[in-house]
Amino acid sequence: MKKVEAIVRTGALKKILKNLLEIDYPGVTVYEVHGHGKQRGVKEHYRDQTTLSLVPKVKIECVVSGDKEAEKAINAITSATRTGEFGDGKIFVSELKEVIRIRTNEKGTKAIN
Ligand SMILES: Nc1ncnc2c1ncn2[C@@H]1O[C@H](COP(=O)(O)OP(=O)(O)OP(=O)(O)O)[C@@H](O)[C@H]1O
Ligand SMILES: [Mg+2]
Repeated sequence: MKKVEAIVRTGALKKILKNLLEIDYPGVTVYEVHGHGKQRGVKEHYRDQTTLSLVPKVKIECVVSGDKEAEKAINAITSATRTGEFGDGKIFVSELKEVIRIRTNEKGTKAIN
């Protein structure tokens, strides 16, 4: 099981969700976050540059059952967000130990799909 976490431009969210629909994703969580990467926020266009160089972004979290599904989710995200400019975003992929569907007590991939 894999957890795919992407931190991207807020404007990319709609397209990402649309792309995810096409790959039959099992679920998604979206957060409003603030952060910066390598450029410490200074090379990114944002109206209020005084806000400690923290740039508003969205974080999209999607847990999927395996490598193949993770790759599809990653493609759905990158194809919606890549402009080639600083601040396009980053994707963090990690191995996930356990998932439990509370209603049924199903575990693992059964609980994901
Ligand atoms: N190492 C990191 N740890 C935690 N969050 C990070 C890290 N790098 C980036 N982020 C988050 O991802 C967002 C987007 O990062 P960003 O795309 O600017 O990464 P970058 O490494 O600076 O790449 P680029 O050079 O393309 O701008 C940041 O605003 C921050 O929230
Ligand atoms: Mg950056």
